[in-house]
Amino acid sequence: MDTTGLDLAGLDLAGLVERFDLGDPGFIADPYPLLAALREATPVFFNERTGQWVLTRFADVADTLRDRRLGRVYTHRFTPAEFGRPEPDLRWKDFDDHERWSLLQLEPPDHTRIRQLITKVFTPRAVAALRPTVEAFADEHLDACGARGAFDVVADYAQPYSVAVICSLLGVPRADTPRLLDWSHAIVKMYELTTTDDQKVAANRAAAEFMDYTRALIAEKRRRPDEALVSRLATVEDGGATLSDAEIVCTVIVLLNAGHEATVNSLGNGLRAFLRHRDQWDQVTSGTVAPRVAVEEMIRWDAPLQLFERWVLEDGVEIAGQAIPRGAEVAMLFGSANRDPRRFREPERFLAGRGDTAHIGFGGGIHFCIGAPLARLELEVSLAGLSRRFPGIEATAEPAYHPTFVIRGLTELRVRT
Ligand code: HEM
Repeated sequence: MDTTGLDLAGLDLAGLVERFDLGDPGFIADPYPLLAALREATPVFFNERTGQWVLTRFADVADTLRDRRLGRVYTHRFTPAEFGRPEPDLRWKDFDDHERWSLLQLEPPDHTRIRQLITKVFTPRAVAALRPTVEAFADEHLDACGARGAFDVVADYAQPYSVAVICSLLGVPRADTPRLLDWSHAIVKMYELTTTDDQKVAANRAAAEFMDYTRALIAEKRRRPDEALVSRLATVEDGGATLSDAEIVCTVIVLLNAGHEATVNSLGNGLRAFLRHRDQWDQVTSGTVAPRVAVEEMIRWDAPLQLFERWVLEDGVEIAGQAIPRGAEVAMLFGSANRDPRRFREPERFLAGRGDTAHIGFGGGIHFCIGAPLARLELEVSLAGLSRRFPGIEATAEPAYHPTFVIRGLTELRVRT
């Protein structure tokens, strides 16, 4: 099967790598032909633009996620100078502080300690207990969308719904959600490889405001505890270990940011996939494929998170036959791994009933998505609600993508019912 598209035909590896420009709107709109061509050409290549070794295939990405010789950060073992990297830029200190104790910025032993404490309160049972609330939020927002007849899936449904769910889980007052959304949008720009200084200033300011807000929220929950997660994080204990205020602040913020953006983009990308594959949508509306099964394919086929990084912490690391030195950075292409024909049969096809839960969408190893049960619940409830109410839903405009590749999602998805 030729998935490489006409303009890629005949390009050698160097030509393909040249096209791998994470800021190119054409690539972002449809990265898959180039990803397929790169994946077939090589399992690993060096990206001069970002200074990273890039992995294209499922097995190497899955192994690397579990390889403890690599870490999400290196600062628990080495100084920036030892890794040939600049010292932290003090202009972005608030941003750095807001993720100082984020699970995504930690390696063992701190990661193990904090993840264990969070897992004690953020349990699959706590998530399952949230189902009626999640269903009520979906109903409320879908009622409003249905009444309009035409709506934007991203702004009118996915965003307010997903932020309402996560705020309810945490115990954040509903009236505060618009502010949280603004902070979250500003902060996640920092995770792109193409961030401008203006975006960094905005992200830093958002981080400072978000931390202040969360400190006040924790104090309030200590005065008036409830059953929600922030209260429980403030009191959780495991063999004498507890979370400090700074650790709770970072945890609340990472749960909100990591939880919200990826879920919104999965909903947008996934529904778009269904609108382009009517036969697959019909399988869901007719009850042939359960929404719980279909959400796995939504995440696999059009990954909302396309690229994750790791630092090489040890000498002697070799990936796909390529020696990668200590201090180097590795970028794993999740969207490419999830369409690797070595792992998935007919990977380019969107098959609602595929039912393969072992895709790479939620990662693997010690950083495996702690919110996966909640994300699956949110997507399932949404798909069930959308397919039941609006079986004839159709797109009314060609959707556009945010100009970002790492977190890849639609700016809007206009539909009519
Ligand atoms: C469809 C939606 C989601 C996707 C595709 C997704 C994907 C991921 C992936 C790939 C990772 C691993 C990152 C790495 O290995 O470097 C991750 C980690 C994480 N996710 Fe999710 N996620 C989703 C929803 C959520 C939700 C709803 C929450 C929280 C409520 C959440 C919270 C987290 C946290 C805290 C981590 C860090 C875990 C750690 O480092 O130990 N995610 N997610």
